[in-house]
Amino acid sequence: MNPLQRTDRCNEIVFGIDLPVSPEELASLRRSVGWPVEGDYERLLDENVFSVSARLDGRLVGFLQVVGSPHGDLLIHDVCVHPQVQRRGVGTRLMEIALDACQRWNPRGVNVLFEEKNRPFFERFGFRIMLGGYMDSMTLLSRRPKGFPGDPSGGIK
Ligand SMILES: CC(C)(COP(=O)(O)OP(=O)(O)OC[C@H]1O[C@@H](n2cnc3c(N)ncnc32)[C@H](O)[C@@H]1OP(=O)(O)O)[C@@H](O)C(=O)NCCC(=O)NCCS
Repeated sequence: MNPLQRTDRCNEIVFGIDLPVSPEELASLRRSVGWPVEGDYERLLDENVFSVSARLDGRLVGFLQVVGSPHGDLLIHDVCVHPQVQRRGVGTRLMEIALDACQRWNPRGVNVLFEEKNRPFFERFGFRIMLGGYMDSMTLLSRRPKGFPGDPSGGIK
Protein backbone atom coordinates (compact mmCIF):
# COMPACT_ATOMS: atom_id res chain seq x y z
CA MET A 1 0.00 0.00 0.00
CA ASN A 2 1.24 3.46 -0.86
CA PRO A 3 2.32 5.15 2.41
CA LEU A 4 0.48 8.28 1.29
CA GLN A 5 -2.82 6.48 0.84
CA ARG A 6 -5.53 7.84 3.09
CA THR A 7 -9.05 9.17 3.03
CA ASP A 8 -10.49 12.29 4.53
CA ARG A 9 -14.19 13.11 4.90
CA CYS A 10 -15.33 16.73 4.62
CA ASN A 11 -18.90 17.98 4.15
CA GLU A 12 -20.10 14.63 2.77
CA ILE A 13 -17.38 14.63 0.14
CA VAL A 14 -14.82 11.87 0.60
CA PHE A 15 -11.28 12.74 -0.43
CA GLY A 16 -8.54 10.20 -0.90
CA ILE A 17 -5.04 9.65 -2.19
CA ASP A 18 -4.47 6.91 -4.73
CA LEU A 19 -7.97 5.49 -4.44
CA PRO A 20 -9.21 3.49 -7.44
CA VAL A 21 -10.57 5.63 -10.28
CA SER A 22 -11.65 4.08 -13.57
CA PRO A 23 -10.76 5.56 -16.96
CA GLU A 24 -14.51 5.91 -17.67
CA GLU A 25 -15.12 7.92 -14.49
CA LEU A 26 -12.21 10.18 -15.30
CA ALA A 27 -13.43 10.70 -18.86
CA SER A 28 -16.89 11.58 -17.58
CA LEU A 29 -15.51 14.13 -15.09
CA ARG A 30 -13.29 15.66 -17.78
CA ARG A 31 -16.27 15.87 -20.15
CA SER A 32 -18.26 17.77 -17.48
CA VAL A 33 -15.72 20.64 -17.61
CA GLY A 34 -15.42 20.53 -21.41
CA TRP A 35 -11.96 18.93 -21.53
CA PRO A 36 -10.90 16.48 -24.27
CA VAL A 37 -11.24 12.84 -23.31
CA GLU A 38 -9.16 11.06 -25.93
CA GLY A 39 -6.04 9.37 -24.60
CA ASP A 40 -5.06 6.19 -22.83
CA TYR A 41 -6.39 6.96 -19.36
CA GLU A 42 -5.74 3.44 -18.14
CA ARG A 43 -2.00 4.01 -18.65
CA LEU A 44 -2.10 7.63 -17.53
CA LEU A 45 -3.63 6.58 -14.22
CA ASP A 46 -0.83 4.04 -13.79
CA GLU A 47 1.88 6.59 -14.47
CA ASN A 48 0.98 8.92 -11.61
CA VAL A 49 3.29 9.55 -8.72
CA PHE A 50 -0.05 9.80 -6.93
CA SER A 51 -3.56 11.10 -7.49
CA VAL A 52 -6.15 12.78 -5.28
CA SER A 53 -9.84 12.13 -5.79
CA ALA A 54 -13.10 13.44 -4.33
CA ARG A 55 -16.37 11.52 -4.31
CA LEU A 56 -19.89 12.60 -3.45
CA ASP A 57 -22.27 9.67 -2.84
CA GLY A 58 -19.75 7.46 -4.59
CA ARG A 59 -19.58 9.62 -7.70
CA LEU A 60 -16.24 11.08 -8.81
CA VAL A 61 -16.59 14.88 -8.49
CA GLY A 62 -12.97 15.97 -8.22
CA PHE A 63 -9.60 14.72 -9.34
CA LEU A 64 -6.00 15.74 -9.84
CA GLN A 65 -2.86 13.88 -10.80
CA VAL A 66 0.70 14.42 -9.66
CA VAL A 67 3.38 13.25 -12.09
CA GLY A 68 7.10 13.77 -12.51
CA SER A 69 10.10 12.92 -10.40
CA PRO A 70 9.54 12.66 -6.64
CA HIS A 71 13.18 13.71 -6.07
CA GLY A 72 13.22 16.32 -8.82
CA ASP A 73 10.21 18.32 -9.91
CA LEU A 74 6.61 17.25 -9.51
CA LEU A 75 3.74 18.54 -11.65
CA ILE A 76 0.20 18.85 -10.35
CA HIS A 77 -2.01 18.67 -13.38
CA ASP A 78 -5.57 18.39 -14.65
CA VAL A 79 -7.12 19.72 -11.44
CA CYS A 80 -10.78 19.18 -12.14
CA VAL A 81 -13.98 19.71 -10.11
CA HIS A 82 -17.43 18.84 -11.42
CA PRO A 83 -19.40 22.06 -12.19
CA GLN A 84 -22.20 20.97 -9.81
CA VAL A 85 -19.85 21.19 -6.83
CA GLN A 86 -17.54 24.03 -7.89
CA ARG A 87 -17.00 27.02 -5.55
CA ARG A 88 -17.58 24.82 -2.48
CA GLY A 89 -13.95 24.35 -1.53
CA VAL A 90 -13.45 20.98 -3.27
CA GLY A 91 -10.62 22.23 -5.52
CA THR A 92 -8.91 23.85 -2.54
CA ARG A 93 -9.09 20.62 -0.53
CA LEU A 94 -7.72 18.58 -3.47
CA MET A 95 -4.79 21.01 -3.77
CA GLU A 96 -4.10 21.06 -0.02
CA ILE A 97 -4.05 17.28 0.14
CA ALA A 98 -1.75 17.15 -2.91
CA LEU A 99 0.65 19.76 -1.52
CA ASP A 100 0.77 18.02 1.90
CA ALA A 101 1.64 14.75 0.13
CA CYS A 102 4.24 16.46 -2.12
CA GLN A 103 5.85 17.87 1.02
CA ARG A 104 6.40 14.33 2.28
CA TRP A 105 8.16 13.31 -0.95
CA ASN A 106 10.49 16.29 -0.47
CA PRO A 107 10.91 17.08 -4.19
CA ARG A 108 13.07 19.92 -5.53
CA GLY A 109 9.92 21.78 -6.50
CA VAL A 110 6.28 21.56 -7.53
CA ASN A 111 4.83 22.93 -10.77
CA VAL A 112 1.27 23.59 -11.75
CA LEU A 113 -0.03 24.68 -15.16
CA PHE A 114 -3.17 26.77 -15.47
CA GLU A 115 -4.86 29.33 -17.65
CA GLU A 116 -5.10 33.02 -16.78
CA LYS A 117 -8.80 32.69 -15.84
CA ASN A 118 -7.85 30.27 -13.04
CA ARG A 119 -5.06 32.42 -11.63
CA PRO A 120 -7.14 33.59 -8.62
CA PHE A 121 -7.66 29.96 -7.65
CA PHE A 122 -4.02 28.82 -7.97
CA GLU A 123 -2.11 31.82 -6.68
CA ARG A 124 -3.62 31.41 -3.21
CA PHE A 125 -1.46 28.33 -2.58
CA GLY A 126 1.87 30.16 -2.67
CA PHE A 127 3.12 29.31 -6.17
CA ARG A 128 5.52 31.82 -7.68
CA ILE A 129 3.73 32.82 -10.87
CA MET A 130 5.98 32.42 -13.94
CA LEU A 131 5.35 31.96 -17.64
CA GLY A 132 4.90 28.43 -18.97
CA GLY A 133 3.71 26.71 -22.10
CA TYR A 134 1.72 23.73 -23.21
CA MET A 135 1.57 21.95 -26.56
CA ASP A 136 -1.26 19.50 -27.19
CA SER A 137 -0.64 16.29 -29.17
CA MET A 138 -2.21 17.65 -32.39
CA THR A 139 0.17 20.61 -32.36
CA LEU A 140 3.10 18.36 -31.46
CA LEU A 141 2.35 15.94 -34.31
CA SER A 142 1.86 18.72 -36.83
CA ARG A 143 5.30 20.08 -36.02
CA ARG A 144 7.91 19.58 -38.74
CA PRO A 145 10.89 17.68 -37.25
CA LYS A 146 14.12 19.59 -37.72
CA GLY A 147 16.55 16.72 -37.00
CA PHE A 148 19.99 17.28 -35.52
CA PRO A 149 23.53 16.14 -36.40
CA GLY A 150 23.79 12.41 -35.73
CA ASP A 151 20.02 11.96 -35.66
CA PRO A 152 19.56 8.41 -37.07
CA SER A 153 16.39 9.52 -38.88
CA GLY A 154 18.43 12.25 -40.54
CA GLY A 155 15.61 14.69 -39.87
CA ILE A 156 12.84 15.32 -42.35
CA LYS A 157 13.46 18.07 -44.85
C1 LIG B 1 -10.43 25.69 -11.05
C2 LIG B 1 -11.24 24.69 -10.22
C3 LIG B 1 -10.42 23.41 -10.01
C4 LIG B 1 -11.58 25.31 -8.87
O1 LIG B 1 -12.26 24.33 -8.08
P1 LIG B 1 -13.38 24.76 -7.01
O2 LIG B 1 -13.74 23.57 -6.22
O3 LIG B 1 -14.48 25.45 -7.72
O4 LIG B 1 -12.56 25.82 -6.16
P2 LIG B 1 -12.83 26.30 -4.66
O5 LIG B 1 -14.27 26.23 -4.32
O6 LIG B 1 -11.91 25.56 -3.76
O7 LIG B 1 -12.39 27.83 -4.82
C5 LIG B 1 -11.73 28.50 -3.83
C6 LIG B 1 -11.49 29.93 -4.26
O8 LIG B 1 -10.71 29.96 -5.46
C7 LIG B 1 -11.16 31.06 -6.27
N1 LIG B 1 -11.78 30.54 -7.48
C8 LIG B 1 -12.16 29.27 -7.75
N2 LIG B 1 -12.65 29.17 -9.00
C9 LIG B 1 -12.58 30.42 -9.53
C10 LIG B 1 -12.91 30.97 -10.78
N3 LIG B 1 -13.42 30.21 -11.77
N4 LIG B 1 -12.72 32.29 -10.98
C11 LIG B 1 -12.22 33.06 -9.99
N5 LIG B 1 -11.88 32.60 -8.76
C12 LIG B 1 -12.04 31.30 -8.54
C13 LIG B 1 -12.15 31.83 -5.44
O9 LIG B 1 -11.44 32.76 -4.66
C14 LIG B 1 -12.72 30.73 -4.57
O10 LIG B 1 -13.24 31.19 -3.36
P3 LIG B 1 -14.77 31.73 -3.29
O11 LIG B 1 -15.64 30.67 -3.93
O12 LIG B 1 -14.98 31.88 -1.82
O13 LIG B 1 -14.77 33.01 -4.05
C15 LIG B 1 -12.61 24.35 -10.91
O14 LIG B 1 -13.26 25.56 -11.21
C16 LIG B 1 -12.49 23.52 -12.17
O15 LIG B 1 -12.41 22.29 -12.13
N6 LIG B 1 -12.51 24.19 -13.34
C17 LIG B 1 -12.48 23.49 -14.64
C18 LIG B 1 -11.17 22.80 -14.89
C19 LIG B 1 -9.98 23.74 -14.80
O16 LIG B 1 -9.95 24.79 -15.46
N7 LIG B 1 -8.95 23.36 -13.98
C20 LIG B 1 -7.76 24.17 -13.74
C21 LIG B 1 -6.68 24.00 -14.72
S1 LIG B 1 -5.66 22.56 -14.48
